[in-house]
Amino acid sequence: MELFRGLSARGRRLLLGVLGMSLALFGGACSTDVGPQDYLSPEGPIAERADGLWDLTFAIAVVVFLIVEAVLVFTVIRFRRRPGREAAQFHGNTKVEVVLTLIPTLILAGLAVPTVKAIADLSKAPAGALNVTVTAKQFWWQYEYPDAEVMTANEMHVPINQPVLLTLEGADVIHSFWIPKLTGKQDVVPGRTNRMQFEATKPGTYWGQCTEFCGLSHANMRLRVIAHEPAEFEQWLLDQQQPAAASVSGAAAEGQEIFMGTCVSCHAIKGTDAQATTGPDLTHFATRETFAGAMFENNTENLKRWIDNPPAVKPGAQMPDYGLSAEEIDAVVAYLQTLK
Ligand code: CUA
Repeated sequence: MELFRGLSARGRRLLLGVLGMSLALFGGACSTDVGPQDYLSPEGPIAERADGLWDLTFAIAVVVFLIVEAVLVFTVIRFRRRPGREAAQFHGNTKVEVVLTLIPTLILAGLAVPTVKAIADLSKAPAGALNVTVTAKQFWWQYEYPDAEVMTANEMHVPINQPVLLTLEGADVIHSFWIPKLTGKQDVVPGRTNRMQFEATKPGTYWGQCTEFCGLSHANMRLRVIAHEPAEFEQWLLDQQQPAAASVSGAAAEGQEIFMGTCVSCHAIKGTDAQATTGPDLTHFATRETFAGAMFENNTENLKRWIDNPPAVKPGAQMPDYGLSAEEIDAVVAYLQTLK
């Protein structure tokens, strides 16, 4: 090719190598094995709206990139130094500089139109929304359904095809609420009330996590959103409104006694004397799939390790090690597992 004339054999090999590597990288981006927190595979109208802006911006950026790189590569090769010729130098072309300033300005001004419109649309409270108040605490999430008087933690249940309006409150330091597939990030700031919305259209479990560094277990401050068919969600809400089972027996009764003497200072269990709000409300703890900021699967072994010494398994956890014996821990776990 005319363009490569004068390029040494080594230079051509290098160029081919770079092209090959670029192709491999490009091909690698086509993976279909997406993660549960992949914001590039959005679910629901809110996330899709934001994703549409990203797609538009990305498409424009790709075109700009290709044009700029093509001109750059052409120029570097065409005007390079060759035997018997100096590299060509160009300076100060006012016309070109004005054009090159105007083009990006026009592109950015054009992109601002759909972006500002989307921001304005998404900041309006949606009609017929389910209200959930999210309170971020080190290192877990409290969810209150004010219209149903339901309180839960870490796993937010919602119906599909209904917008959910979140009221975000901070209890200690700044956190940030993020469910990548359903909506963008929103900071949770003590002393401020922030709002955000999302809507799931498919039943299932959506993963999320805190996305503002908030202390030792920031990375362990995870969350789940579980989307149900509307009737199933109504049933969940009804179940959650019930107080905990009145009578327990055996090891669970022992566990309840320990709970009401120790854990009661931080936790609430509806229908009992436990009414504190420092830690998660545990009324229907056994119905949750995870605990401790959705960090652990809710099973006997994990619960025992947790109660034995919380900060040892979750750095910075606010729940202290109460020095319970193995038998006492077994009893408390048995009690927690009755909280259905
Ligand atoms: Cu909460 Cu990071």
